[in-house]
Amino acid sequence: MERTLSIIKPDGVKKNIIGEVVSRFEKAGLKVVASKMKHLSQREAEGFYAVHKERPFFGSLIEFMISGPVVLMILEGEGAILKNRELMGATNPADADEGTIRKDFADSIESNIVHGSDAPETADFETKYFFSALETY
Ligand code: CMP
Repeated sequence: MERTLSIIKPDGVKKNIIGEVVSRFEKAGLKVVASKMKHLSQREAEGFYAVHKERPFFGSLIEFMISGPVVLMILEGEGAILKNRELMGATNPADADEGTIRKDFADSIESNIVHGSDAPETADFETKYFFSALETY
């Protein structure tokens, strides 16, 4: 069993598709073992995306991520990290496969509806960044 962090970003919450996104995870065999809605502070968003801080899009990404509440989730399942990434589709919706969350709902490479951990090390950092052991089931 593997665990990964999923975020429904402010654009996903604004588009009222929380249920649709969670349903896709559940239908694919991923289980939500922790979940909360949160309006991130600038400091929280910058800490989460610290790995991108030298990128030209960093300021804009942070502004977008704090523009409204997000839904934070830990998903559990066999091969959860890869499975979640397959369900999301490519970062840029223009490159995403048919039937993926980003292809179906995302407007741009920045406003791309969901985030998912990309490797076991990042999944470990990201799940612990937002959830304590007491908050997971
Ligand atoms: P995410 O998977 O959350 O990881 C980093 C985020 O930065 C990414 O999704 C996009 O929202 C954003 N991002 C990545 N590349 C670019 C880019 N070239 N321009 C703007 N935003 C980007």
